[in-house]
Amino acid sequence: MSTKDDLLKQLHDRREEAHQGGGKTRVARQHEKGKLTARERIEILLDDGSFEELGMFVRHQSTNLGLETNRPYGDGVVTGYGTIDGRLVYVYSQDFTVFGGSLGQAHAAKIVKIMKLALENGAPVIGLNDSGGARIQEGVVSLGGYADIFLQNTMASGVVPQISAILGPCAGGAVYSPAITDFIFMVRSSSYMFVTGPGVVKTVTHEEVSFEDLGGADTHATKSGVAHMAYASEAECLSGIRELLSYLPLNCEEPPPRVPTTDPVDRSEEALNALIPTNPNKPYEMREVIAHIVDDGHFFEVHPDFAPNIMVGFARMNGSSVGIVANNPSILAGCLDIDASVKGARFVRFCDAFNIPLLVFEDVPGFMPGTDQEWRGIIRHGAKLLYAFCEATVPKITVITRKAYGGAYDVMNSKHIRGDLNFAWPTAEIAVMGPKGAVEIIYRKQIAEAKDPEAEEQKFIDDYRGRFANPYVAAEHGYVDDVIEPASTRLRLIRGLDMLKNKVATNPPRKHGNIPL
Ligand code: HXC
Repeated sequence: MSTKDDLLKQLHDRREEAHQGGGKTRVARQHEKGKLTARERIEILLDDGSFEELGMFVRHQSTNLGLETNRPYGDGVVTGYGTIDGRLVYVYSQDFTVFGGSLGQAHAAKIVKIMKLALENGAPVIGLNDSGGARIQEGVVSLGGYADIFLQNTMASGVVPQISAILGPCAGGAVYSPAITDFIFMVRSSSYMFVTGPGVVKTVTHEEVSFEDLGGADTHATKSGVAHMAYASEAECLSGIRELLSYLPLNCEEPPPRVPTTDPVDRSEEALNALIPTNPNKPYEMREVIAHIVDDGHFFEVHPDFAPNIMVGFARMNGSSVGIVANNPSILAGCLDIDASVKGARFVRFCDAFNIPLLVFEDVPGFMPGTDQEWRGIIRHGAKLLYAFCEATVPKITVITRKAYGGAYDVMNSKHIRGDLNFAWPTAEIAVMGPKGAVEIIYRKQIAEAKDPEAEEQKFIDDYRGRFANPYVAAEHGYVDDVIEPASTRLRLIRGLDMLKNKVATNPPRKHGNIPL
């Protein structure tokens, strides 16, 4: 019979074996590639010493293609829970040193187990992905495992935040689990995502493309919009996830966390009074506007490099999280195009799902014209942003800094679609369209027949600007709740958010709406 000491030694030995992952050589290879191991990543991600591992001794039951003699503990994924800033999170971290992090039945079951726990206990799931995909030896069982995960991702969507870090390969159908989650974080030069790799691409389309160009961090953070964030190192990426979580509630039933601030509520910002250029066609930096208004000037921008004509991200107002959606007049004049609409819509829906009030900073000349946009469906994609703002029931406040033209005025959280408070700066221009476009349509004949058409057009433009390109017509109708001094925006917004903090608004009962996908 074993003594107690023997039993304990056996436990320690087994733990030690599990901790070794795929062994020293494979760990060294992982490090050579600039990548951390699954456990090192968890250590950086979570609060010190908070990780509780579950399923360390899980092993696959497969007997295919030599697997029966190769049954490492953990089956290529480390799973469990811990804390970030003292708040509960669930985590899974794929271990590339074991079967290339490939996913078989037991590996999938471990992930599903913690996802179910997360859903039942109301806390975020963070997936650290680094995997060669479906485990080839396990065949269809691996595909089933992926589908089990996709289902859990879908069930958890809107209930608990789900965050994916891609820290190595993520290819084929495997991409669809991160794709369903709320945020994707990537690392330059060491992570990639694609449905089919460069080899298949070459065979099918004859394009020669590198892994990085096809599906690296920058590609997805700028071109495809698949990734929300791209970082230079894993440590920065993991710390980015920690920061993101600081703005989010643990689940859809909770309010977001408060972080006390010393930034005065009534901080007046004279610089804002002078920030909008006198020439309405001159760009300015909306990030500067945001920085003057939010707590400590800190804006955690999400998706910063994709569709930068709209900006989305998180900040705090008097310590409470807010989601910010802002047109960026310095890129494409702040026009709404397909990518901007989709980016904005997904962010608005995330904030609404997780009780995060929305602040909208508006300077939008309209939707982007052109055959490219029309043929690719700006109508249905633009409708996504409209739909998202319409259905959102969280507190929603808009500040119109300058242009609010045409359909884009309605879309950007106007009062008509349940914007709770709509403020305008004195520089606001709220009208069906800009002065030049408008007079060219309604005074085309008069301008053409005038002795000096240019002067005549300018006269009409000046008249139109005086009549319509200001906030007071909208304010007369109550479409704008107040025209405010820009310097006072922080105070007005904080008071507004405070007034709205117990807001109750609902949508009609139904199975689910049908957002124009
Ligand atoms: C089993 C795998 C594996 C896999 C890698 N390995 N991928 N084992 N199933 N899918 C193992 C390798 O045998 C090797 O084992 C170890 O992991 C490291 O792999 P290397 O090839 O040495 O590493 P590297 O050179 O860095 O290349 C990584 C890689 C490559 C690019 C990911 O391994 C690869 O192309 N793998 C196959 C990818 C793939 O086609 N997966 C299926 C995708 S389809 P040893 O013992 O030598 O360390 C898919 C469908 C999902 O996933 C569908 C969901 C609906």
